[in-house]
Amino acid sequence: MTIALATNAGDAGHSVPDQPIVIRAFDGPLGAEVIGLDLGRPLSQHDFARIHRAHLDHHVLVFREQRITPDQQIAFSRRFGPLQIHVLHQFQLPGFPEVLVVSNVVENGQPIGLGDAGHFWHSDLSYKEKPSLGSLLHAQELPAEGGDTLFANMHLAWDTLPTHLRTAVEGRSAEHTYLAKYAELQKRSPWRPNLSAGQIAQVKPVVHPVVREHPETGRKALFVSEHFTTRIIGVPEDESRQLLEELFAHSVRPEHLYRHQWAEHDMVFWDNRSLMHLAAGTPDHLRRKLYRTTIEGDVPF
Ligand code: SIN
Repeated sequence: MTIALATNAGDAGHSVPDQPIVIRAFDGPLGAEVIGLDLGRPLSQHDFARIHRAHLDHHVLVFREQRITPDQQIAFSRRFGPLQIHVLHQFQLPGFPEVLVVSNVVENGQPIGLGDAGHFWHSDLSYKEKPSLGSLLHAQELPAEGGDTLFANMHLAWDTLPTHLRTAVEGRSAEHTYLAKYAELQKRSPWRPNLSAGQIAQVKPVVHPVVREHPETGRKALFVSEHFTTRIIGVPEDESRQLLEELFAHSVRPEHLYRHQWAEHDMVFWDNRSLMHLAAGTPDHLRRKLYRTTIEGDVPF
């Protein structure tokens, strides 16, 4: 098992002072709060290494009170790898193609962001050859009620999977398709524009292992989701559907979950190689807006 620390390109001179960071693990199956770090300030190599390690260990990191700009969010995200541009370019933050606006707000009759992002359990961009390493979501405007985000620990899902399911899926691959639920979402929301031929070409179905190995920790994780996984390859259609339903249900058992209740200026950074997530929903009359950056990962194996 290898644990490679990502490089810290912004601190070539080793001159940036450390910040007084404390990492406090949540009492649950995943997640930790990072206390004492201002993401608007340069990050020393030592602090970067601690954040990187904590991200691998806890899978979700919560940074409170981050009064930072989109440029600063992009700069911090890039420390972990190249950023991915979402296929729905309609919902990029103007001037910042790397930032996807996640919002239910409609202005002048036009949605300003993707309001139903996360409506189904998923791992970000699993429909790409190189799915996402991790995503960062920064709270801009929060509803007085609702709007939580749930995370499921997919290492635990694999570790606790009943033997008959393990045997059925180990060594198998599954298809992931961006379009799997697109028509269904389009019917009930204003956030799913018709896709151009160019957009459809960007999201051709891909095949990934049902059980993937985390490229940095070596831990195995289930890697199928309700939103994007359509079938297990080489298994009859009805059996594949039945297996996927059992895998989805097992993945989101309550003991695998962390529920994030957002506070103003929270930044949440999660590992898409270890987790799935779900937007729990916001009452229609309340405004919610967050900025998401998404870091490219490896081809799953
Ligand atoms: C997402 O799936 O990236 C959005 C999650 C959320 O809005 O809570």
